[in-house]
Amino acid sequence: MHFRIHLAAALLMTIAASAAVAQDASAILHTRALAATCANCHGTDGRTVDGSAIPSLVGMPKSYMVMQFKAFKDGSRPATVMHQLGKGFTDEQIDSIATYFAATKR
Ligand code: HEC
Repeated sequence: MHFRIHLAAALLMTIAASAAVAQDASAILHTRALAATCANCHGTDGRTVDGSAIPSLVGMPKSYMVMQFKAFKDGSRPATVMHQLGKGFTDEQIDSIATYFAATKR
């Protein structure tokens, strides 16, 4: 009887642990998908080629990126396309995109 309870508890913990892992994995995928929308202009993984008019994003400090996005959103930084793009993202999404690029090695 005792053994059964232990087994059930162990099973439950295993299920809970894998659910947490699955949630992490889907959060990472979600962030990567958001970041991938920048690739058209800023290059794969935010890497532009040398001499590109569009700045690289890879390895950009998080606080700097968040600040630029705010400036694009409120129009205080002049831009061509980033004004419109910036408005399409919530602060939460910008936070995770900026975290992702900051953590990606140049
Ligand atoms: C349609 C092309 C395009 C897309 C898509 C795009 N950008 Fe940009 N981005 C630009 C351009 C062009 C600039 C220069 C400012 C301007 O003219 O709007 C820029 C500037 C920036 C800057 C300022 C860089 C610096 O060095 O100060 C940041 C940060 C940035 N983009 C982040 C992003 C992120 C994050 C995404 C994806 C969510 C993204 N951009 C998607 C074209 C794009």
